[in-house]
Amino acid sequence: MRLGLLALPFLAATVQAADYSGPLRPQVQFSPPKGFMNDPNGMFYDAKRSIYHYYYQYNPSELVAGNQHWGHATSPDLYHWTNHPPALEPDNEDTFIFSGSAIIDSENTSGFFPDQDDGVVAIYTAHSSTKETQHIAYSTDGGYTFTKYANNPVIDSHTDNFRDPKVIWHAESQKWVMVIAWAHALKIGIFTSPNLKDWTPTSNYTQEGLPGVQFECPNLVTFPVDDADSGETTKDVLAISVNPGAPLGGSGTFYVVGQFNGTHFNSEVKEETLFDFARDNYAAQWFYGLPEDSKPVSIGWASNWDYTNEVPSGDREGWRGSATVPREQTLINVDGAWRVTQTPFQGLSPVKGDKLEKKTFNNGDVSVDFSSVESNAVYFDVTIKNLPSSDVTGELSFNFTSSASGEYLDGAVELNSGSFWINRAGTHLFTTADNDNFTGQFDTSISVSESGQFTFSGVIDRSVFEVFLEEGKQSGTMSFFPTKPLDKVTFAATGLGEDVTVDLGVWGLKSGWSS
Ligand code: FRU
Repeated sequence: MRLGLLALPFLAATVQAADYSGPLRPQVQFSPPKGFMNDPNGMFYDAKRSIYHYYYQYNPSELVAGNQHWGHATSPDLYHWTNHPPALEPDNEDTFIFSGSAIIDSENTSGFFPDQDDGVVAIYTAHSSTKETQHIAYSTDGGYTFTKYANNPVIDSHTDNFRDPKVIWHAESQKWVMVIAWAHALKIGIFTSPNLKDWTPTSNYTQEGLPGVQFECPNLVTFPVDDADSGETTKDVLAISVNPGAPLGGSGTFYVVGQFNGTHFNSEVKEETLFDFARDNYAAQWFYGLPEDSKPVSIGWASNWDYTNEVPSGDREGWRGSATVPREQTLINVDGAWRVTQTPFQGLSPVKGDKLEKKTFNNGDVSVDFSSVESNAVYFDVTIKNLPSSDVTGELSFNFTSSASGEYLDGAVELNSGSFWINRAGTHLFTTADNDNFTGQFDTSISVSESGQFTFSGVIDRSVFEVFLEEGKQSGTMSFFPTKPLDKVTFAATGLGEDVTVDLGVWGLKSGWSS
């Protein structure tokens, strides 16, 4: 982030009154009650109480980054949210609470929890203009209130640009493992600890040619894999966020796939893969403590440091920054290359509303008016079937339009050229005239599956659009700002061979804030 901040007032730890009715307010993705939000922090699942905790980088007192707290919300299903008072506040006006993670210390390795097996420890960066050190705080009430450890910092490397600790439990070595960004050095540090207080550096990871000016917010995630692909049953994925200098401009997140042995991460791929083919998915974090049989689940920040401090939800509605939908993931091998797939957690079922359209067609148009959907949020999926194995022709486009202003967000799969694109340039409340970096169109290459199919699905939610291609093998996340709500969508197929069919489904989404 860029901090160009004045000394800022502190707020008492109360829940801020919130109005989630503004026309730019996402109804399915999380956004803060007021003020400015960036990275997801400290995400964990409390299995005892069946509740997800979500913390986030939060400036409760201004509409731009700075005065960083950990905001806090909980959810039974990752779609319906309850806001709580900030969980961690700065001690003074020069030291902010930067990104980090949280774990459940069920064995009381830290000694903070003599009488309980559900103590929570937050591990975060204390940031000042000259130093970044790693601190811990503990919670005996399940993650609502924290006490800062009296002997902080737990890691002081006498440096700035050293931040964003993400801690996991490594069962094989019976140790806590931290991945952390040596931001300007473009390295990921790995530390281990028996008790969350005493940390030993074990290695630094870097890989020739990784892009970016700073590394931020690393995550190390173990995925189950099909042992037919590599002879192994798990692989480790290291996610690294970079800012600025991501391949699409500004901030972006990529991953590398390999093995972690308790002290070192060894990449097994030559090149990193970007998580997203658009600009607004940054600093994703993965939940700690999910049930054994759960897939990994992450949430990202649906914005970009290139323009986040200027987007119009601030002046219009008093908030900036929203999350992506929660995404569940798998790691699969596609023609020899590892790919993390991501699709909305539980297929959005907790908020999936009425079916607005279900149709099979060939060439032609299908339009759906969703002006009566109270949330103004819609989910759609498309399966194009019976495509020939070569010389595929035609395209399927979609266009979300505002009946009041004529603004639009559009996109298409161009089957003949093997490309998929999305474009926000038809929405006018914030454009490249406001900020050069708010570019309109994002493209990616696609291929038709061996079975002659191409599928994609998406969520449009007032000012956030997320699209998932081929069961989530690729995704594109784009914030957009119309002057009037988009309330109609047209899907149009042209040039498809006569045997080709398009299965389309469109559903309204229910607001996570009102039901
Ligand atoms: C990433 C980041 C982190 C930092 C936080 C500050 O977006 O810059 O590196 O901890 O934001 O808000």
